[in-house]
Amino acid sequence: MTAQKLEEPIRRLEVPRLDALEKALGETKYTTDNVEEDALYVRVVRSPHPHALIRRIDSSRAERVPGVVRIATARDIPGSNYIGYVVQDRPLLCHDKVRFVGDSVALVIADTSESAELGVQEVKVDYEELPAVFDPGEALKPGAPKIHPGGNLTARHFVRLGDAEEGLVRADFVVRGTYSTPIQEQAYLETEAALAYPKSDSMVVLGSMQNPFMVKKAMATVLGRAVPNVRIIQAPTGGGFGGKQDAPDEVCSMAALAAWLTKRPALLAFSREESAAFHPKRHPMIFDREMGVSSDGKITAVRASILADGGAYASLSERVLFVAVTTAAGPYEIPNVHIDGTTVYTNNVPMGAFRGFGKPQASFAAELQMDEAAERLGMDPAEFRLRNILKAGSTAPTGQVLTSSVGLEECLVRARADSAWDAKRRTGPGQGEKKRGIGMACTIHPEGLNGEADAATASVEITAVGQVVVKTGLTEYGQGIHTGFVHIVSKVLGTSPDRVSVVMPDTDVVPDSGPTVASRSTVFGGKAILLAAEKLRGKLAKVASEMLSCPPEVIVFEGDTARCQGRDDGRVGFEELVSECFRRKLNLKEEGTFVKPLPFWEAGHGDLSPSYTFAVHVAEVEVDTETGKVEVVNYTAAHESGTVISRDQFESQIIGGVAQGLGYALMEELILKDGIIRNKTFLDYHIPTAADVPHIRTIIVEAPDDFGPFGAKGVGEAGIEPVAAAVGNAVYNALGFPIRRFPFTPERVYEAIEERASRS
Ligand code: MTE
Ligand code: MOS
Repeated sequence: MTAQKLEEPIRRLEVPRLDALEKALGETKYTTDNVEEDALYVRVVRSPHPHALIRRIDSSRAERVPGVVRIATARDIPGSNYIGYVVQDRPLLCHDKVRFVGDSVALVIADTSESAELGVQEVKVDYEELPAVFDPGEALKPGAPKIHPGGNLTARHFVRLGDAEEGLVRADFVVRGTYSTPIQEQAYLETEAALAYPKSDSMVVLGSMQNPFMVKKAMATVLGRAVPNVRIIQAPTGGGFGGKQDAPDEVCSMAALAAWLTKRPALLAFSREESAAFHPKRHPMIFDREMGVSSDGKITAVRASILADGGAYASLSERVLFVAVTTAAGPYEIPNVHIDGTTVYTNNVPMGAFRGFGKPQASFAAELQMDEAAERLGMDPAEFRLRNILKAGSTAPTGQVLTSSVGLEECLVRARADSAWDAKRRTGPGQGEKKRGIGMACTIHPEGLNGEADAATASVEITAVGQVVVKTGLTEYGQGIHTGFVHIVSKVLGTSPDRVSVVMPDTDVVPDSGPTVASRSTVFGGKAILLAAEKLRGKLAKVASEMLSCPPEVIVFEGDTARCQGRDDGRVGFEELVSECFRRKLNLKEEGTFVKPLPFWEAGHGDLSPSYTFAVHVAEVEVDTETGKVEVVNYTAAHESGTVISRDQFESQIIGGVAQGLGYALMEELILKDGIIRNKTFLDYHIPTAADVPHIRTIIVEAPDDFGPFGAKGVGEAGIEPVAAAVGNAVYNALGFPIRRFPFTPERVYEAIEERASRS
């Protein structure tokens, strides 16, 4: 692909990204940069088998390795061994059996990382191998190896609206297909790491993570009464993408266990190979899907079944499945919907949260099938979508009537115009070996924790010298959310952004604002912060009104001053105003809590969230039919996420999401053979580099939302959601037939072309 050209001059950012300079200068201290001399190093003994009973663990030789301080097994855990977000099915250290290649069996704690590594090699585990199962369909069959005591079914979900059978019968035609999506590895730059410090009556753990309060909860399970006081501090975190939702529960608990057993600080940091082997990844899913369409281009019904491989432990499979099932019909008005989803245990690496959380998979199946139906109709795919897409007041496929902002249609119209869609569809693929194609895909993203109650609390405090300090449990791991919080506070208080700081989450210092997942920080954290800042503004306005002699309602805060609206005579500076408040012994600390209206979900239908974000992407590709190579030559991403708080952050999230989506669409393919990951490093697991990413044109549609701060909605995940589908439809347009599985690697595309040629 061609390298991104700088088409616009570099602009000055409205609010400079808080962490940018220190990261660019290499000054940021990640977890492993904080190790002190007396720290011990922990390494994990991992299972080489996908499924086996543990007969005996012999650590005697390992204990004699110079530098090894201690070996820990399940027997050394003072609390409970079982952790997990949804189902507590994952042992921190396996004691009776292992369920995937890489499952944790013991910890080796040593003076140096090298000694610990040598110790790992000397721990002898007697395994009795069990038959294993790697295919989710096979895992559900009677007689399949049973991975957990309760069997191999992890969860089921469904959606029911109208009568799908009837809707398919009434249709003028039905399109059917099986679509499959690959595993994707989060590939964050910083691998997992935790540093635990024992104190006389407590334990402090510093680590790379998304959810410190969830780690604290896990620690209460693992350490239990042995260490009642645990304090979790989030270190600067080099990427999460969902992979650091639940995995840090284990990493931090292991480091803490080592520190508790030895009474010394202990570091556990993973190599790239270990990271790849261990943390939950994007679920591969298979969609059997049929869609009924009338001859005038209206969708009459969608019926689908989804099968997800959840790997060896539950992780977030149940939640990811819920999102895939409830968005599988796509962002369309469909009167009859029948969707069933199942997620299954196998002896593969666990699957869990990854940016998009089930939607990139659902979008691929739905959007490819949309184009197949458009072809049957002889209708332009953009036109076909326009006839069916959700608008304000529409009933979504889950039965919810959409009341808040719905900017999908405008996204589609503008992406179509921006990409010169109509002209390019007319031109067609061309005559040569290199075929051009242009494809479109839409996405629907329900805000926040879908179908669940959700709330967040934050505090804002003004110090005597006029610094504004924001405390929230919502973490920064690359999204730029803390910079977004600064925007919100400085807007409400009319201060310059450099007065405002956001405290690094520390469970002893900040409130629990819920997990930093599901693109929820802008809406939940942002709104809680806005509410707190507004309370402070009310207090400041009262004092300013007395100082300036005008009613508090007309006090305007801007440019670090307060003044009376419509009057230019007097102003009071922010610091002076704050000093006056302190003289009057006013408390300038406020809390805000935002509670989402409780969604209704029952018997396969209901509300997922009060509001939704939308996107329409258009990809243009060139497919070399001689080699199968797909090159993305143009890309347009139109997004509606309510009001935009920071344009720079917003666009960078979209561009990052698209880049990660292009990796998913074109090259990322985790090779799993008999449960063993064959490509654990970036040498063979390819992710896009800057040279692989074309210029991505972003279009921002603003449709203010009823709930979020200033009408904003989240944007963290949506950028990745329609990418594989847009690329898939562009490849379809170039070749004249759809390829229903990806990544669109040269081999896969070439084979599809050959197979097609042999059939005709
Ligand atoms: N962007 C960067 N740079 N790094 C990340 O790890 N994670 C994504 C997305 N964008 C991620 C990212 C995921 S999985 C989520 S849920 C959202 O950010 C969270 O964003 P929010 O803080 O805006 O809610
Ligand atoms: Mo994001 S997958 O919700 O951390």
